[in-house]
Amino acid sequence: MLRGPLLRLSRSHKIKNLVTTAPLSSGVVERFIAGETSGDAVAVTRRLVGVGLLAAIDYLGEDTADPSYADTVVVAYLDLLTRLREAGLSASAEVSIKLTALGQQLRDGPQLALENAELICRAARKADTAVTLDMEDHTTTDSTLETLRTLRKEYPETGAVLQAYLYRTEADCRDLAEAGSRVRLCKGAYAEPESVAFQNRREIDKSYIRCMKILMAGNGFPILATHDPTLINIGLQLAKDYGRGPRDFEFQMHYGVRPTEQLRLANLGHAVRVYVPYGTDWYGYLIRRLAERPANLRFFVRSLITKG
Ligand code: FDA
Repeated sequence: MLRGPLLRLSRSHKIKNLVTTAPLSSGVVERFIAGETSGDAVAVTRRLVGVGLLAAIDYLGEDTADPSYADTVVVAYLDLLTRLREAGLSASAEVSIKLTALGQQLRDGPQLALENAELICRAARKADTAVTLDMEDHTTTDSTLETLRTLRKEYPETGAVLQAYLYRTEADCRDLAEAGSRVRLCKGAYAEPESVAFQNRREIDKSYIRCMKILMAGNGFPILATHDPTLINIGLQLAKDYGRGPRDFEFQMHYGVRPTEQLRLANLGHAVRVYVPYGTDWYGYLIRRLAERPANLRFFVRSLITKG
């Protein structure tokens, strides 16, 4: 399987330099990233909303070792939320945040990340929208869920992400399938050890289905973040089985991945939210998208060679 080795190789500084010095205009980067500025993110959101889709916007960046960088990330989100409100788009666009970009891994990190996340949640509330906490590698799961619990006391609209590849996730789905809670279920994008996560695709898919059932049967708002046609069909069937209408759950997909399917589902009346990443720190995100599909990787390597 290519995914694990590629994610590990991507930590090499040489590879990172090679990839990040390629011009942003390189086709693959442009396909997955909305651009570098909040203006770019707002423009892409306007286009998506214009064709009946919703957006979840992510200011790219993760794993900071610098508290002042965490401040920069907060300022970027506040600016983005103001622009979305001014553009009349905030009812259709929420924001996604990564706690490691807000300082979670620093000394006293969980408290710092919580305070930073609170600032963003407050601004989101003012803009009439909401925040979802992305989930990162398994060493951060407990801390992220703890932060979620604290944030939801004041901001119950705050959403969580759970990753079906972790053995613990069925139990986490049960805990979170309660009224008012929004849970985005994904397969999981990090290279995780066998001690905590299923390694085999079939096992991950089976876990995803078990988790979907728990969320669909529960009282919360299930969000199916997948491009997988089989899981999408099972999700549609489960929604029917549990008496959920097309607006009682949501599909989410990445910007640039299966855009025709996004529109097909939206045209059937389903809520479809596109995850729109923007910013200059796009390397980690891009590598995870490339690792999901060898065809993307081949295309990207070819574009690096021809441009270099
Ligand atoms: P899978 O990877 O099996 O793909 C199924 C099919 O979809 C493929 O056969 C292909 O047709 C298509 N496809 C999938 N990825 C593609 C790509 N990059 N390019 C082209 N085609 C592709 N992860 C995480 O760990 N923490 C998080 O917080 C999030 N957040 C998140 C939000 C949203 C909105 C989405 C859609 C996904 C995430 N993820 C995530 C990522 C997730 O864990 C997972 O890595 C990807 O969604 C890919 O998994 P699929 O379920 O799409 O299945």
